[in-house]
Amino acid sequence: MTISRMLSTIVLVSAFMAAVSMMGCSRDEPSVGLFLYNEADPYIKEFAKQIMEESGPVFTPVQYDAGNSQLIQNEQLEGLLVRNPALVIVNPVDRLSSHSVLRKLQAAGIPGIFFNREPLAGDLALWEKSYYVGAKAEQSGQLQAQLVMQLFGGEPENLNGYDRNDDGRIQAIILKGEQGHQDAEIRTREVLRSFEAAGFIVEVLALEIANWNRDEAYAKMGPLLKDYRNNVELVVSNNDAMALGAISMMRQTGMFQDSNRNGRIDRSDELWIPVVGIDGLKEAEGSIAEGYLYGTVKNDSLSMAKAIVELSGILLGHIDPSMARYPVEDGTYIWIDYRPFISEQ
Ligand code: GAL
Repeated sequence: MTISRMLSTIVLVSAFMAAVSMMGCSRDEPSVGLFLYNEADPYIKEFAKQIMEESGPVFTPVQYDAGNSQLIQNEQLEGLLVRNPALVIVNPVDRLSSHSVLRKLQAAGIPGIFFNREPLAGDLALWEKSYYVGAKAEQSGQLQAQLVMQLFGGEPENLNGYDRNDDGRIQAIILKGEQGHQDAEIRTREVLRSFEAAGFIVEVLALEIANWNRDEAYAKMGPLLKDYRNNVELVVSNNDAMALGAISMMRQTGMFQDSNRNGRIDRSDELWIPVVGIDGLKEAEGSIAEGYLYGTVKNDSLSMAKAIVELSGILLGHIDPSMARYPVEDGTYIWIDYRPFISEQ
């Protein structure tokens, strides 16, 4: 942002704050609601924290956690909508439920910003003041495949030593997120499509759904490793939490060995199996630094939080749309890029 842009944003924000206090609005009155599908999800927990921090100087959303229950989220939304909020920011439990939420918002004339769990395009089209801030799941699958192909030497005809049985194919276990979630469906499809398009033969030994959840992935890896411990050459996970769960079970069964006991795995000469995730959780970065997790693809929630707050500012009328750093595409979408993250050893 240029200095003059920054100054005008500050002037606009201060003017808004002054107007709010002149109108005698109580700061306690909830006028923006932030609805989370499940705060127990570490990616969402961090995302919500970033939204709260970014919105701090401008407005204070009231946060609701649905604990992964659409019923609870409906009640929470209805409870706020009767109080005529200025804006709602929604991370739906079931993205298909957005249909009825959008109808209610439209009837009441309340703008809505959806994030992370993408409503159907037809539902977003129901209400002109509805938006989606997210990342294109295809891109994460493609970047994840690129990380793997690079690790195996980049040439499908000539895989390196990570092809342990030297059969010219990569034997893989796939951990899938929640069935029906756009990210789980598209990431799984796209990572496999990208291997195929580049000529890499990936043999899927097993595909398990672990609902984005670390403990579930840990538990599901147990029986899988009984069957495939000696064959598996790669674990591809739809997110970091499941990748970390898989690594815990793999460590327990001796698939990683810090032989020289230097506190990290040196994959060039110690026992190691590549696991890749998506999200860029802090714990995943820690695991990469210790040499366990091979890599991740950052699902940039900080930029998304900034985009949500900026768009909120515009909808609340105190940021000039021409100042926007995050442009709205097709009147509805703000897309943030994924970024690959590994540590070279
Ligand atoms: C995905 C993320 C997952 C999970 C999910 C929840 O984008 O990669 O870890 O948080 O959203 O909707």
